[in-house]
Amino acid sequence: MHFNKRLTSARNNTYPPSRKNRPSNVVCMPTEYSSLGLVNTGEMFQKAMKGKYAIPGYNFNNMEQLQAIITACVETEAPVILQVSRGARKYANQILLRYMAEGAVEMSKELGGDIPIALHLDHGDTYEICKSCVDTGFSSVMIDGSHLPFKDNVALTRKVVDYAHQHQVSVEGELGVLAGIEDDVQTEAPHYTKPEEVEQFVYETGVDSLAISIGTSHGAYKFPPGVDPQLRFDILYEIEKRLPTFPIVLHGASSVIPEYVETINRHGGNLVGARGVPEDQLRKAAASAVCKINIDSDGRLAVTAVVRKILAENPRMFDPRKYLGPAREELIKMIKHKNINVLGNAGKA
Ligand code: G3H
Ligand code: 13P
Ligand code: ZN
Repeated sequence: MHFNKRLTSARNNTYPPSRKNRPSNVVCMPTEYSSLGLVNTGEMFQKAMKGKYAIPGYNFNNMEQLQAIITACVETEAPVILQVSRGARKYANQILLRYMAEGAVEMSKELGGDIPIALHLDHGDTYEICKSCVDTGFSSVMIDGSHLPFKDNVALTRKVVDYAHQHQVSVEGELGVLAGIEDDVQTEAPHYTKPEEVEQFVYETGVDSLAISIGTSHGAYKFPPGVDPQLRFDILYEIEKRLPTFPIVLHGASSVIPEYVETINRHGGNLVGARGVPEDQLRKAAASAVCKINIDSDGRLAVTAVVRKILAENPRMFDPRKYLGPAREELIKMIKHKNINVLGNAGKA
């Protein structure tokens, strides 16, 4: 265990120290994720690689999303990565989210499940954010230096790996830039990952997994009208050849489920032209070196579709449980479908 120097006086006492014995300038001790019942992504990815399936990285910001993810994954006996973005940290508070993840582990047990659960920082952009997540109980972090020059990306990623690995926390790095909104920067065209850079990046940084850019993008508008929604499997396979059995990650992998888009548009929304990654391409990717597939937008769409429909049809309704409850049910259905029919992680807990 690695404690901050000024905390070592508390070491010989019980952990965590009682409020009375705590050094007065310290609010709380660094948290080892295993004490929260979380796991890192090491074994998950090894099994996913061998079994030719992918682990979902589902983002959450609130209680209903988290309940839905856990319920669906327990019911499908599926390992899962719970993702917290920088936006989620701002919205819901990192410490609260961490405790919610701890609660989620307990909830999964109460539901009768014994599923591996990782807590992951999505798109960390500084060493400090990654360190703070390691110190507060995350079992995995992403350091996204994809917008930096190669050398700077390597240096930043290496620094995070050096710290995280002292705590057995997994690290995801990224090479190549997705089109859409990434790191608060809107890019028109994607910069696909250059296969000739991946070996050096992985070797020099020591990362545990690598996010790549092969045509996916964040958000609900992944392919313009008239453009064939086709991922660059040629790049993926070239990367796989250069890094055999190394875990690859796909961001921006929502399918932008057409039924939700239609429901939203029918009830006052306007998401005309929204399109995502076809499910058959995700299935094909999951059978390759892709071990982690990130899904956020589809969850947002499911919730928004249900809430819009219910509120439009029930103008006198004002109890959030009456529309968030059904939204949560829809989210459970969607996640079960993804686990069973798209990612293949169902039954792999
Ligand atoms: O990759 C981006 C995720 O969808 C998180 O988005 O920063 O709006 O929470 P957010
Ligand atoms: P989507 O916007 O396609 O759901 O991607 C989410 C993501 O990559 C989170 O990191
Ligand atoms: Zn992402």
